[in-house]
Amino acid sequence: MNIGIIGSGTMGSGIAQVAATAGYTVKLYDTNTNALEKAKASLDKILKRLIEKGRINAEEKNRIQSNITYVNSLKALADSNLTIEAIVENLDIKRKVFSELESFVSEDCIIASNTSSLSIASIASSLQKPERCIGIHFFNPAPLMKLVEVIPAIQTSKTVLDKSVQTIKSWNKTVAVAKDTPGFIVNRVARPFYGESLRIYEEGIADFETIDHSLKTLGGFRMGPFELMDFIGNDVNYTVTETVFEAFYYDPRYKPSFTQKRLSEAGYLGRKTGKGYYDYDERGKIIEISNVALSAVEESLKQNIFNRVLVMLINEAADALFLNIASAEDIDNAMTKGVNYPKGLLAWADDKGINWCVDMLDGLYNDYHEDRYRCSPLLRKMKRENKTFF
Ligand code: NAI
Repeated sequence: MNIGIIGSGTMGSGIAQVAATAGYTVKLYDTNTNALEKAKASLDKILKRLIEKGRINAEEKNRIQSNITYVNSLKALADSNLTIEAIVENLDIKRKVFSELESFVSEDCIIASNTSSLSIASIASSLQKPERCIGIHFFNPAPLMKLVEVIPAIQTSKTVLDKSVQTIKSWNKTVAVAKDTPGFIVNRVARPFYGESLRIYEEGIADFETIDHSLKTLGGFRMGPFELMDFIGNDVNYTVTETVFEAFYYDPRYKPSFTQKRLSEAGYLGRKTGKGYYDYDERGKIIEISNVALSAVEESLKQNIFNRVLVMLINEAADALFLNIASAEDIDNAMTKGVNYPKGLLAWADDKGINWCVDMLDGLYNDYHEDRYRCSPLLRKMKRENKTFF
């Protein structure tokens, strides 16, 4: 099976590495020859490091590298059976590339996009045969993150969906099939991790160090929300939130925060600019904050912060299931394998108890009377029927 990757930036080069490692023949295309050279040099460096760590041997490195050809003409992808596009996030440009590509690939070539925020239906409609189009959404860095969301558009054929799922599984990835809706699974369900934490901060309940500390120590999250926003980049994270908010017709549940907008406007983008919520040294490490103060934070405050963020995440996951965005298994896998959550959110809901979830959410709703805190009808129904997710 021949794989064609369009765009050799962060995502395209990572996806090429994944497919080549699984033994597939890959052509990696970019309009920018510097980007191609950079991708080639960067893969060499990554594979050398894997040898040093004893993960692969020199033979394996050669095998992976010889599976990838770097090309600067789209036509070179003519013999592909599956193409995955990872170019700039611009609908018009993507549509133009897709329609050109379709003019010379075979009848049954699958044409996929790695888009994070555009609808697959809108990309597919640029094709003569839209049923061959599908979303195949990797996470950054593609070689390390286990999860791939596969998103059939309303036009996508069952054969294309099945073939895509089968191929991506053979690349040693966990597949979660998601409905073609804003944010798919991960970028939708993860919103409250940032949004509710920002809200807690804006209300003056706690500073961001305390919020990060609470979620890491009580929740087992590897990074706190503020550390993570700084890591992703406040500009990037803000834009995702704003895009999801607009795409959901301004549902208040996804409302962006002024705190993050101002940080982004000020150029306090996080690790990449040396300043965000935290200050960073030249190696990108957080300049130490006082752990003494953190150890003095009251247990009840930490518990309140953790419970509030967790229940909002659970509500979002439950509502995604309620609206048939994905199966319960796929929703939980998406969060543990796409963003390294310590536990699936629906499994977490079972552990905490569905009654606890509903009561917590109703408590928040009673306090605020904001639609943002409305409990998912699914949780309410489950409470009534005494059910669990698993
Ligand atoms: P990037 O900016 O690192 O790379 C894009 C590459 O596409 C560049 O090398 C550019 O020269 C090339 N390119 C632009 N127009 C082209 C064209 N018409 N034909 C061929 N090549 C072209 O971008 P990145 O971050 O890799 O993102 C690519 C796609 O993946 C976007 O759709 C993005 O939404 C999606 N994505 C990004 C993630 C991330 O964390 N960076 C995660 C998941 C998806």
